[in-house]
Amino acid sequence: MKKRVLVSGGAGYIGSHVTVELVNAGYDVLVADNMSNCDMTCFEGVKKITGKDDIPFECIDCCDDAAVQKLFSDYRIDAVIHFAAYKAVGESVAEPVKYYRNNLDSFLNILEASKTHGGCNVLFSSSATVYGETDELPVTENSPRKPATSPYGNTKQICEDILRDVVKASAVYEPMEQGASRNGQIKGIALRYFNPIGAHPSALIGELPRGVPNNLVPFITQTAIGKRECLSIFGNDYPTPDGTCLRDYIDVVDLAKAHVAAVARMLDGKMKESYEIFNIGTGRPVSVSELVTAFEKVNGLKLNYKYTPRRPGDVMAIWADPSLANEELGWTAERTVEETLASAWAWEKHLAENR
Ligand code: UD1
Repeated sequence: MKKRVLVSGGAGYIGSHVTVELVNAGYDVLVADNMSNCDMTCFEGVKKITGKDDIPFECIDCCDDAAVQKLFSDYRIDAVIHFAAYKAVGESVAEPVKYYRNNLDSFLNILEASKTHGGCNVLFSSSATVYGETDELPVTENSPRKPATSPYGNTKQICEDILRDVVKASAVYEPMEQGASRNGQIKGIALRYFNPIGAHPSALIGELPRGVPNNLVPFITQTAIGKRECLSIFGNDYPTPDGTCLRDYIDVVDLAKAHVAAVARMLDGKMKESYEIFNIGTGRPVSVSELVTAFEKVNGLKLNYKYTPRRPGDVMAIWADPSLANEELGWTAERTVEETLASAWAWEKHLAENR
Protein backbone atom coordinates (compact mmCIF):
# COMPACT_ATOMS: atom_id res chain seq x y z
CA MET A 1 0.00 0.00 0.00
CA LYS A 2 1.22 3.48 -0.81
CA LYS A 3 2.38 5.46 2.20
CA ARG A 4 0.57 8.69 2.93
CA VAL A 5 2.39 11.86 3.94
CA LEU A 6 0.57 14.76 5.56
CA VAL A 7 2.11 18.08 4.56
CA SER A 8 0.97 20.79 6.97
CA GLY A 9 1.44 24.18 5.37
CA GLY A 10 1.54 22.34 2.06
CA ALA A 11 0.05 25.19 0.02
CA GLY A 12 2.93 27.52 0.88
CA TYR A 13 6.29 28.15 -0.75
CA ILE A 14 8.36 25.20 0.44
CA GLY A 15 5.35 22.97 1.14
CA SER A 16 4.14 23.14 -2.46
CA HIS A 17 7.55 22.18 -3.84
CA VAL A 18 7.75 19.30 -1.37
CA THR A 19 4.26 18.13 -2.35
CA VAL A 20 5.34 17.95 -5.99
CA GLU A 21 8.43 15.88 -5.18
CA LEU A 22 6.49 13.55 -2.87
CA VAL A 23 3.86 12.91 -5.53
CA ASN A 24 6.60 12.35 -8.12
CA ALA A 25 8.25 9.87 -5.76
CA GLY A 26 5.02 7.86 -5.56
CA TYR A 27 3.63 8.90 -2.18
CA ASP A 28 0.03 9.72 -1.43
CA VAL A 29 0.02 13.28 -0.16
CA LEU A 30 -2.52 15.02 2.02
CA VAL A 31 -2.17 18.80 2.14
CA ALA A 32 -3.43 20.78 5.11
CA ASP A 33 -3.20 24.55 5.19
CA ASN A 34 -5.11 27.40 6.82
CA MET A 35 -4.19 29.72 3.91
CA SER A 36 -3.04 32.39 6.35
CA ASN A 37 -0.02 33.27 4.24
CA CYS A 38 -0.88 32.00 0.77
CA ASP A 39 -3.68 31.56 -1.72
CA MET A 40 -4.52 28.60 -3.96
CA THR A 41 -2.01 29.63 -6.66
CA CYS A 42 0.67 27.19 -5.60
CA PHE A 43 -1.69 24.32 -4.86
CA GLU A 44 -3.21 24.74 -8.33
CA GLY A 45 0.35 24.81 -9.72
CA VAL A 46 1.16 21.58 -7.90
CA LYS A 47 -1.81 19.89 -9.55
CA LYS A 48 -0.71 21.09 -12.99
CA ILE A 49 2.91 20.02 -12.53
CA THR A 50 2.05 16.57 -11.22
CA GLY A 51 -0.96 16.05 -13.48
CA LYS A 52 -2.88 14.96 -10.41
CA ASP A 53 -5.98 16.95 -9.66
CA ASP A 54 -7.22 14.75 -6.83
CA ILE A 55 -4.58 15.53 -4.21
CA PRO A 56 -6.62 15.82 -1.01
CA PHE A 57 -6.63 19.28 0.51
CA GLU A 58 -7.97 20.16 3.96
CA CYS A 59 -8.31 23.82 4.89
CA ILE A 60 -7.58 23.58 8.59
CA ASP A 61 -5.61 25.51 11.15
CA CYS A 62 -3.17 23.23 12.98
CA CYS A 63 -3.72 25.35 16.10
CA ASP A 64 -7.21 23.83 16.20
CA ASP A 65 -6.57 20.63 18.12
CA ALA A 66 -9.95 19.07 17.32
CA ALA A 67 -9.40 19.67 13.59
CA VAL A 68 -5.97 18.05 13.71
CA GLN A 69 -7.31 15.05 15.64
CA LYS A 70 -10.09 14.70 13.08
CA LEU A 71 -7.57 14.80 10.24
CA PHE A 72 -5.67 11.91 11.79
CA SER A 73 -8.95 10.02 12.31
CA ASP A 74 -10.14 10.60 8.75
CA TYR A 75 -6.88 9.57 7.05
CA ARG A 76 -4.28 6.93 7.76
CA ILE A 77 -1.12 9.03 8.04
CA ASP A 78 2.31 7.38 7.86
CA ALA A 79 4.44 10.51 8.06
CA VAL A 80 3.96 14.21 8.67
CA ILE A 81 6.03 17.05 7.33
CA HIS A 82 5.26 20.06 9.47
CA PHE A 83 5.67 23.44 7.79
CA ALA A 84 2.64 25.24 9.19
CA ALA A 85 4.28 28.14 11.02
CA TYR A 86 4.85 31.87 10.87
CA LYS A 87 8.24 32.81 9.51
CA ALA A 88 8.78 36.57 9.44
CA VAL A 89 11.73 37.33 11.70
CA GLY A 90 10.93 41.04 12.19
CA GLU A 91 7.25 40.43 12.89
CA SER A 92 8.20 37.83 15.50
CA VAL A 93 10.22 40.47 17.35
CA ALA A 94 7.22 42.81 17.35
CA GLU A 95 4.62 40.12 18.17
CA PRO A 96 6.30 37.33 20.12
CA VAL A 97 3.10 35.96 21.66
CA LYS A 98 1.57 35.50 18.21
CA TYR A 99 4.66 33.55 17.14
CA TYR A 100 4.97 31.38 20.23
CA ARG A 101 1.24 30.68 20.26
CA ASN A 102 1.02 29.72 16.60
CA ASN A 103 4.29 27.91 16.06
CA LEU A 104 4.23 25.92 19.29
CA ASP A 105 0.49 25.15 19.43
CA SER A 106 0.34 23.87 15.88
CA PHE A 107 3.32 21.57 16.37
CA LEU A 108 2.08 20.31 19.73
CA ASN A 109 -1.26 19.45 18.15
CA ILE A 110 0.45 17.49 15.39
CA LEU A 111 2.51 15.58 17.95
CA GLU A 112 -0.46 14.91 20.18
CA ALA A 113 -2.54 13.59 17.30
CA SER A 114 0.44 11.48 16.17
CA LYS A 115 0.52 9.92 19.60
CA THR A 116 -3.20 9.30 19.97
CA HIS A 117 -3.29 7.68 16.54
CA GLY A 118 -0.67 5.08 17.24
CA GLY A 119 2.57 6.90 16.52
CA CYS A 120 3.97 8.55 13.43
CA ASN A 121 7.08 9.68 11.60
CA VAL A 122 7.46 13.42 12.05
CA LEU A 123 9.67 15.66 9.95
CA PHE A 124 10.08 19.15 11.37
CA SER A 125 10.91 22.12 9.19
CA SER A 126 13.74 23.77 11.11
CA SER A 127 16.22 26.43 10.17
CA ALA A 128 19.87 27.39 10.29
CA THR A 129 18.63 30.21 12.49
CA VAL A 130 18.94 27.74 15.41
CA TYR A 131 22.73 28.20 15.26
CA GLY A 132 22.37 31.91 16.10
CA GLU A 133 25.48 34.07 15.78
CA THR A 134 27.81 31.17 15.14
CA ASP A 135 31.58 31.30 15.01
CA GLU A 136 32.03 27.75 13.66
CA LEU A 137 31.99 27.84 9.88
CA PRO A 138 30.78 25.86 8.12
CA VAL A 139 28.28 24.73 10.75
CA THR A 140 27.79 21.04 11.38
CA GLU A 141 24.85 19.50 13.18
CA ASN A 142 27.09 19.32 16.25
CA SER A 143 27.91 23.03 16.24
CA PRO A 144 26.37 24.59 19.32
CA ARG A 145 23.00 26.24 19.08
CA LYS A 146 23.59 29.79 20.29
CA PRO A 147 20.74 31.80 21.82
CA ALA A 148 18.18 32.55 19.14
CA THR A 149 18.30 36.07 17.75
CA SER A 150 14.50 36.34 17.42
CA PRO A 151 11.32 34.79 18.80
CA TYR A 152 10.90 33.11 15.39
CA GLY A 153 14.32 31.49 15.79
CA ASN A 154 13.46 30.54 19.33
CA THR A 155 10.31 28.74 18.17
CA LYS A 156 12.51 26.66 15.86
CA GLN A 157 14.84 25.77 18.75
CA ILE A 158 11.94 24.98 21.08
CA CYS A 159 10.12 22.84 18.49
CA GLU A 160 13.31 20.86 17.84
CA ASP A 161 13.59 20.23 21.57
CA ILE A 162 9.93 19.27 21.86
CA LEU A 163 10.33 16.75 19.04
CA ARG A 164 13.46 15.30 20.66
CA ASP A 165 11.65 14.88 23.99
CA VAL A 166 8.50 13.41 22.45
CA VAL A 167 10.55 10.89 20.44
CA LYS A 168 12.47 9.94 23.57
CA ALA A 169 9.32 9.49 25.63
CA SER A 170 7.63 7.34 22.99
CA ALA A 171 10.70 5.08 22.70
CA VAL A 172 10.51 4.31 26.43
CA TYR A 173 7.24 2.48 25.96
CA GLU A 174 7.71 0.70 22.67
CA PRO A 175 10.78 -0.95 21.18
CA MET A 176 11.86 0.35 17.79
CA GLU A 177 10.74 -1.73 14.86
CA GLN A 178 11.84 -1.60 11.26
CA GLY A 179 9.96 1.25 9.63
CA ALA A 180 7.33 1.09 12.30
CA SER A 181 4.98 3.97 12.55
CA ARG A 182 1.96 2.44 14.22
CA ASN A 183 3.38 0.88 17.37
CA GLY A 184 2.90 4.01 19.39
CA GLN A 185 6.33 5.24 18.52
CA ILE A 186 7.10 8.69 17.25
CA LYS A 187 10.27 9.11 15.25
CA GLY A 188 11.56 12.47 14.22
CA ILE A 189 13.85 14.27 11.83
CA ALA A 190 14.60 17.99 11.95
CA LEU A 191 15.88 19.47 8.73
CA ARG A 192 17.77 22.71 9.25
CA TYR A 193 17.38 24.72 6.06
CA PHE A 194 19.84 27.38 5.10
CA ASN A 195 18.45 30.04 2.72
CA PRO A 196 15.83 28.51 0.41
CA ILE A 197 15.46 30.43 -2.85
CA GLY A 198 14.20 29.99 -6.40
CA ALA A 199 11.19 28.30 -7.89
CA HIS A 200 10.11 25.21 -9.74
CA PRO A 201 11.55 25.05 -13.30
CA SER A 202 7.98 25.05 -14.67
CA ALA A 203 7.48 28.53 -13.11
CA LEU A 204 4.08 27.31 -11.91
CA ILE A 205 4.96 27.47 -8.22
CA GLY A 206 7.26 29.74 -6.24
CA GLU A 207 7.46 32.19 -3.38
CA LEU A 208 4.46 34.50 -2.93
CA PRO A 209 5.39 37.09 -0.33
CA ARG A 210 2.57 39.22 1.05
CA GLY A 211 3.40 42.92 1.07
CA VAL A 212 7.00 44.07 1.03
CA PRO A 213 9.30 41.03 0.98
CA ASN A 214 11.65 40.57 3.92
CA ASN A 215 13.89 38.10 2.14
CA LEU A 216 16.54 38.93 -0.38
CA VAL A 217 15.55 37.04 -3.53
CA PRO A 218 11.88 38.08 -3.69
CA PHE A 219 13.04 41.65 -3.14
CA ILE A 220 15.50 41.29 -6.01
CA THR A 221 12.91 39.85 -8.42
CA GLN A 222 10.29 42.44 -7.45
CA THR A 223 12.82 45.21 -8.02
CA ALA A 224 13.75 43.74 -11.40
CA ILE A 225 10.09 43.63 -12.49
CA GLY A 226 9.48 47.19 -11.27
CA LYS A 227 7.31 46.50 -8.23
CA ARG A 228 10.04 47.91 -5.96
CA GLU A 229 12.17 50.89 -6.81
CA CYS A 230 15.51 49.87 -5.39
CA LEU A 231 17.06 46.98 -3.51
CA SER A 232 18.83 47.91 -0.29
CA ILE A 233 21.88 45.78 0.41
CA PHE A 234 22.05 45.77 4.17
CA GLY A 235 25.63 46.51 5.10
CA ASN A 236 28.86 46.44 3.08
CA ASP A 237 31.15 46.91 6.04
CA TYR A 238 31.14 43.34 7.37
CA PRO A 239 34.54 41.66 7.77
CA THR A 240 33.84 39.43 4.74
CA PRO A 241 35.69 39.44 1.37
CA ASP A 242 33.37 42.02 -0.23
CA GLY A 243 31.89 43.48 2.95
CA THR A 244 28.42 41.95 2.49
CA CYS A 245 26.93 39.01 4.43
CA LEU A 246 27.57 35.42 3.45
CA ARG A 247 24.77 32.85 3.19
CA ASP A 248 24.19 29.35 1.86
CA TYR A 249 21.43 29.72 -0.75
CA ILE A 250 19.70 26.40 -1.33
CA ASP A 251 17.48 25.78 -4.34
CA VAL A 252 13.92 25.08 -3.26
CA VAL A 253 13.59 22.02 -5.51
CA ASP A 254 16.82 20.58 -4.11
CA LEU A 255 15.47 21.33 -0.66
CA ALA A 256 12.21 19.56 -1.50
CA LYS A 257 14.13 16.48 -2.64
CA ALA A 258 15.90 16.39 0.73
CA HIS A 259 12.46 16.00 2.32
CA VAL A 260 11.65 13.03 0.13
CA ALA A 261 14.95 11.41 1.11
CA ALA A 262 14.28 12.06 4.80
CA VAL A 263 10.72 10.72 4.63
CA ALA A 264 11.92 7.58 2.84
CA ARG A 265 14.58 7.11 5.52
CA MET A 266 11.92 7.20 8.21
CA LEU A 267 9.38 5.03 6.39
CA ASP A 268 11.94 2.48 5.22
CA GLY A 269 13.34 1.98 8.72
CA LYS A 270 16.76 3.39 7.84
CA MET A 271 17.16 5.80 10.74
CA LYS A 272 20.18 5.30 12.95
CA GLU A 273 18.61 7.16 15.86
CA SER A 274 14.95 7.77 16.42
CA TYR A 275 15.57 11.53 16.38
CA GLU A 276 17.96 12.88 13.78
CA ILE A 277 19.03 16.31 12.56
CA PHE A 278 20.40 17.26 9.15
CA ASN A 279 21.71 20.48 7.70
CA ILE A 280 20.21 21.13 4.30
CA GLY A 281 22.46 23.45 2.38
CA THR A 282 25.00 23.52 -0.42
CA GLY A 283 28.14 24.10 1.63
CA ARG A 284 28.89 27.09 -0.59
CA PRO A 285 28.97 30.61 0.90
CA VAL A 286 27.71 33.34 -1.43
CA SER A 287 27.73 37.03 -0.56
CA VAL A 288 24.78 39.35 -1.10
CA SER A 289 26.77 41.28 -3.73
CA GLU A 290 27.72 38.06 -5.51
CA LEU A 291 24.10 36.97 -5.55
CA VAL A 292 22.96 40.27 -7.03
CA THR A 293 25.67 40.15 -9.70
CA ALA A 294 24.83 36.53 -10.55
CA PHE A 295 21.15 37.46 -10.87
CA GLU A 296 21.97 40.31 -13.25
CA LYS A 297 24.27 38.17 -15.35
CA VAL A 298 22.15 35.06 -15.74
CA ASN A 299 19.01 37.04 -16.51
CA GLY A 300 20.73 39.71 -18.63
CA LEU A 301 19.46 42.72 -16.72
CA LYS A 302 20.61 45.53 -14.45
CA LEU A 303 19.25 45.84 -10.98
CA ASN A 304 18.75 49.11 -9.17
CA TYR A 305 20.43 48.72 -5.80
CA LYS A 306 22.19 50.72 -3.10
CA TYR A 307 24.16 49.95 0.05
CA THR A 308 22.42 50.85 3.27
CA PRO A 309 23.30 50.28 6.94
CA ARG A 310 23.28 46.78 8.40
CA ARG A 311 19.93 45.22 9.26
CA PRO A 312 19.64 44.62 13.00
CA GLY A 313 19.73 40.94 13.89
CA ASP A 314 21.55 39.77 10.74
CA VAL A 315 24.40 37.33 11.27
CA MET A 316 27.55 38.13 9.32
CA ALA A 317 28.09 34.72 7.80
CA ILE A 318 26.58 31.27 7.93
CA TRP A 319 26.84 28.30 5.64
CA ALA A 320 26.36 24.58 6.02
CA ASP A 321 28.54 21.58 6.21
CA PRO A 322 26.01 19.34 4.42
CA SER A 323 28.14 16.18 4.51
CA LEU A 324 25.92 14.36 6.98
CA ALA A 325 22.88 14.80 4.72
CA ASN A 326 25.01 13.89 1.69
CA GLU A 327 26.11 10.64 3.29
CA GLU A 328 23.09 9.59 5.30
CA LEU A 329 20.26 10.81 3.09
CA GLY A 330 22.10 10.16 -0.16
CA TRP A 331 21.11 13.69 -1.09
CA THR A 332 23.15 16.54 -2.54
CA ALA A 333 22.15 19.98 -3.75
CA GLU A 334 22.39 19.91 -7.53
CA ARG A 335 21.20 23.14 -9.08
CA THR A 336 23.69 25.95 -9.54
CA VAL A 337 22.93 29.33 -8.04
CA GLU A 338 22.58 30.67 -11.61
CA GLU A 339 19.91 28.09 -12.48
CA THR A 340 18.12 28.91 -9.27
CA LEU A 341 18.21 32.66 -9.89
CA ALA A 342 16.92 32.10 -13.43
CA SER A 343 14.01 30.11 -11.98
CA ALA A 344 13.24 32.88 -9.47
CA TRP A 345 13.07 35.40 -12.31
CA ALA A 346 10.93 33.12 -14.49
CA TRP A 347 8.48 32.80 -11.57
CA GLU A 348 8.31 36.58 -11.05
CA LYS A 349 7.57 37.03 -14.76
CA HIS A 350 4.95 34.28 -14.62
CA LEU A 351 3.26 36.15 -11.76
CA ALA A 352 3.36 39.43 -13.68
CA GLU A 353 1.69 37.78 -16.68
CA ASN A 354 -0.89 35.76 -14.78
CA ARG A 355 -2.07 37.86 -11.85
C1 UD1 B 1 16.11 34.66 7.49
C2 UD1 B 1 16.07 33.91 8.77
C3 UD1 B 1 16.03 32.44 8.49
C4 UD1 B 1 14.87 32.10 7.58
C5 UD1 B 1 15.05 32.90 6.30
C6 UD1 B 1 13.93 32.63 5.32
C7 UD1 B 1 17.30 34.51 10.81
C8 UD1 B 1 18.58 34.99 11.36
N1 UD1 B 1 17.26 34.29 9.51
O1 UD1 B 1 17.38 34.39 6.91
O2 UD1 B 1 15.87 31.72 9.68
O3 UD1 B 1 14.89 30.74 7.29
O4 UD1 B 1 15.07 34.29 6.63
O5 UD1 B 1 12.72 33.13 5.78
O6 UD1 B 1 16.36 34.33 11.53
N2 UD1 B 1 19.30 41.30 2.48
C9 UD1 B 1 19.54 42.52 1.89
N3 UD1 B 1 18.48 43.24 1.42
C10 UD1 B 1 17.19 42.79 1.53
C11 UD1 B 1 16.95 41.55 2.16
C12 UD1 B 1 18.03 40.83 2.63
O7 UD1 B 1 20.68 42.96 1.77
O8 UD1 B 1 16.27 43.50 1.12
C13 UD1 B 1 20.45 40.50 2.96
C14 UD1 B 1 20.42 40.22 4.44
O9 UD1 B 1 21.09 41.21 5.14
C15 UD1 B 1 21.15 38.88 4.49
C16 UD1 B 1 20.81 38.21 3.15
O10 UD1 B 1 20.37 39.25 2.31
O11 UD1 B 1 22.52 39.08 4.53
C17 UD1 B 1 19.71 37.17 3.26
O12 UD1 B 1 18.59 37.74 3.92
P1 UD1 B 1 17.19 37.00 4.01
O13 UD1 B 1 16.78 36.54 2.67
O14 UD1 B 1 16.25 37.90 4.73
O15 UD1 B 1 17.50 35.70 4.88
P2 UD1 B 1 18.24 35.55 6.29
O16 UD1 B 1 18.10 36.78 7.10
O17 UD1 B 1 19.59 35.00 6.04
